[in-house]
Amino acid sequence: MTERKLPHLKTDLPGPKARQIMQLDEQIISPSYTRAYPLVASKGYGAMVEDVDGNVFLDFAAGIAVVATGHCHPQVVQAVQKQAAELIHMSGTDFYYTHMVEFAQKLAAVTPGEGPKRVFYTNSGTEAVEAAIKLARYATRRDKLVAFLGCFHGRTMGSLSLTASKSVQRKGFGPLLPGVVHLPYPYCYRCPYNLRPETCGTECATVLEREIFKKLADPEDIAAVFIEPIQGEGGYVPAPPEFLQELQRVCRKHGILLVADEVQSGMGRTGRWWACEHAGLEPDILCVAKGIASGMPLGAIVARAELMRWPPGAHASTFGGNPVCLAAAQATFALLEGGLIENARRVGAHIFARLADWPQRHRIVGDVRGRGLMVGIELVRDQNTKEPAPELREAVVARAFLRGLLILGAGESSVRLCPPLVVDLEQADFALDTLESCIAEVEQQL
Ligand SMILES: Cc1ncc(COP(=O)(O)O)c(C=O)c1O
Repeated sequence: MTERKLPHLKTDLPGPKARQIMQLDEQIISPSYTRAYPLVASKGYGAMVEDVDGNVFLDFAAGIAVVATGHCHPQVVQAVQKQAAELIHMSGTDFYYTHMVEFAQKLAAVTPGEGPKRVFYTNSGTEAVEAAIKLARYATRRDKLVAFLGCFHGRTMGSLSLTASKSVQRKGFGPLLPGVVHLPYPYCYRCPYNLRPETCGTECATVLEREIFKKLADPEDIAAVFIEPIQGEGGYVPAPPEFLQELQRVCRKHGILLVADEVQSGMGRTGRWWACEHAGLEPDILCVAKGIASGMPLGAIVARAELMRWPPGAHASTFGGNPVCLAAAQATFALLEGGLIENARRVGAHIFARLADWPQRHRIVGDVRGRGLMVGIELVRDQNTKEPAPELREAVVARAFLRGLLILGAGESSVRLCPPLVVDLEQADFALDTLESCIAEVEQQL
């Protein structure tokens, strides 16, 4: 296979083989999946994906922010192959194995906060959130939870009760967990309180003490506040550091646990191990998944050791912390530490420098935001009214695909860029040139 660094399209899209697979998919696969465009993947390397017809794409979606080290990084592949030949499964629920301890030590060492920590392994992000909900309730013996509008925490019944990203994700599945209070997220571009960031006094963080504790839920009944430090599915919206710090202060004052859901923003994507580090946050529980094992199914929660005191049998998972996944996680960790986090910072800075004047240059670009390689570009019909433009966003995403660039939407009206952390400056420039010309074309048709 010739390895390319930039897209190379051989057929019309979708090509003939892709069409065949899509037809079969339509007959047999659950219709609940959302597919933005007809990519039928067959191979991947670095930031590139080849489809079944031999078309090569530049991947700025990374399997939804998962393949942190790129597709099939040789060191990850080697670690997986070696481990698969030695021990595929044992179940940490009932037996010991070295991989569980070794990776937990590494992970705990890079999570914010001094002092001893403990790790619980899962297979996915939603299971990490479920584990955090159970641990928070168990450790505090309180039952209520606070979450934020626009945040996505997963689709199983507990995490879904916190998720407030799109109503289709909840519709028809109730009743969900009782006792969950949702607050507006600090989405500064569309401030829920109609204030301006320079003068708002982080109104959105004071609402807990000012309103919620007095009128809705006694703080002594609240087990935890769940927050994405940078909202992912909700539109790549970073929470301002002052907001996160105020939230931490309020939580600590009332003995409420602060849970940072870094399933999407963690593992180096923002140019540091965790997005909450940018705000100096030390969450009581950190939820991790997606990028942790470069595509092998693994998740984890890391908590202060004194919180994780549940007894044997209280919580467990047959597959969670599978040795092959942990081998991939070890290789991923070494690559991130060995330069990829630094690369995310460097390439991310370059991307944001280029994007800075897009709102001036493009009348449908309302906002540009994010950190590192977690980049959100919000499209609007009108910069003054900020009317969301989901159909323009879909048009931009679809056009980018036809030019060989894989991107995804996020939130109502934003484009997200979340390339693998191996992406280089040439690929970033290509992606931005392509995206900008797609935006310009869509703009011209208005
Ligand atoms: C912040 C966040 N939490 C949790 C999840 C759920 O993860 P999973 O799809 O692995 O269950 C996601 C997935 O997009 C996410 O972005």
